Amino acid sequence: MTSSVSMEMKLPPKDFGMPILGHLLPMYRDMLEVPTRLQRKYQSNAIHINMAGQEYVMLLGPDANQMVLHNQDDSFSSAGGWEYIIGKVFPGAIMAMDGGHHRYQRRIMQQAFKKPVLVKYVESMNEIAEQRIGQWSRQNAEETFLVYDNIKNLLMDFGVHIFLGVELGKDSEKMVQHFVSCVQASLAIIRAPVPPFAMWRGVRGRRQLVKMFETMLPEKRASNTPDFFSQFCHAESEEGERYNDQEIIDHMIFLMLAAHDTTATALTAMFYCLAKHPEWQDKLKAELATFGDKPLDYEDMEKLTTLSWVFKECMRLYPSVPSLPRAVVKDINFEGYTIRAGQKVSIYPIHTHRDPAIWTNPEAFDPLRFSPERSEHTRHRFAYVPFGGGSHMCIGQHFAELQTKSIMSQVLRQFRWSVPDGYEMPYQMAPIGKPKDGLPVKLVRERG
Ligand code: HEM
Repeated sequence: MTSSVSMEMKLPPKDFGMPILGHLLPMYRDMLEVPTRLQRKYQSNAIHINMAGQEYVMLLGPDANQMVLHNQDDSFSSAGGWEYIIGKVFPGAIMAMDGGHHRYQRRIMQQAFKKPVLVKYVESMNEIAEQRIGQWSRQNAEETFLVYDNIKNLLMDFGVHIFLGVELGKDSEKMVQHFVSCVQASLAIIRAPVPPFAMWRGVRGRRQLVKMFETMLPEKRASNTPDFFSQFCHAESEEGERYNDQEIIDHMIFLMLAAHDTTATALTAMFYCLAKHPEWQDKLKAELATFGDKPLDYEDMEKLTTLSWVFKECMRLYPSVPSLPRAVVKDINFEGYTIRAGQKVSIYPIHTHRDPAIWTNPEAFDPLRFSPERSEHTRHRFAYVPFGGGSHMCIGQHFAELQTKSIMSQVLRQFRWSVPDGYEMPYQMAPIGKPKDGLPVKLVRERG
């Protein structure tokens, strides 16, 4: 990479796709197919594309991931990449900050993810998981069980207790509605906050969320409980820096976005892969059996190695965030192409995760590729990036794995589940990975 650009600069090939919408619809349909096709067509890892009027240079491969995420010369801006998508409904989001300001906010936030706090979160997670999952097949008996809907509901319960740490009562539904409006707004094609469009509903929803958080704030400042809201109120970096009220509210609202749908995608992918490969349900049940019936604490979770490999493999095949945007702030050179300052770029974890140059038989579900003997993910430092990398790497990665393990261990202890022979999950990859049919499975209670 270099910041000096010669006079005869070579620009990436341009492929704008359909008039007006460009590659937007094909990309929503299949975020893997479009980069694969364009890479082959132009024999290039950099292609200039149009997505409904927004131009991006699509950057492919692990070297591109490294250049963008490692961001050695501060050539890429996260603010410039994410602002357009989340700026109006998630202002103050840490993911859309750069440089010193980002480092300052992250130093404080880091305190809410330290081991002593995580140990406490695990206790709350286990309580909720055991209680809620215990009711699953009682409501559904032998009916089809819709995995995605049930996971979303369960994660909302986690959100209320572990993120907010409050009893919301009837306000709970309102909060969910406002939050959903914000998420939908960030994905809206029409970006103006004009009624009746999604962006307008999102901006209104955000205002209501801010009011709700403002009301709860004095009580959270006054108490110290094992939930993110309280932890943000009391977090203090080693330099003695603390969040003001506005920062706490902005971070809380963004945290719900960052955590909720991403974890729902991960869990749904695990349900699907394990339904298709029941022998892996057996392996995981055997691993859990070594702990007897005791509730699993933080240390136990760390020992669930096979479950970790399954989680990693599902995140490889179905990364919750299939592409990551940035803006270029200094001219760069990538594989002989010049990309000018001001240009937006995006990288594609979903594409790198299926790259046959990195992974053995990349389409196959094969958790053992993460075992120490094979360690395929170490073939390139940026081959496996479901949680990003560099300074913006997911701060909740460890929490997400613990939460997933807490839920899956309860499910595996109580149930076995299956899909009909030949079933293939109709999957929407973008903007948020989810099964189009909710992933119907047959859930059979084995214990409890
Ligand atoms: C399987 C679940 C998850 C996945 C796949 C995931 C993925 C990601 C990715 C790819 C990024 C980097 C975005 C970028 O570089 O532009 C990110 C950032 C972030 N994630 Fe996660 N995430 C997950 C769960 C969570 C959870 C549970 C939390 C909080 C409890 C969380 C909080 C955050 C935050 C705050 C950031 C921004 C960090 C920063 O900019 O410094 N995530 N996540």
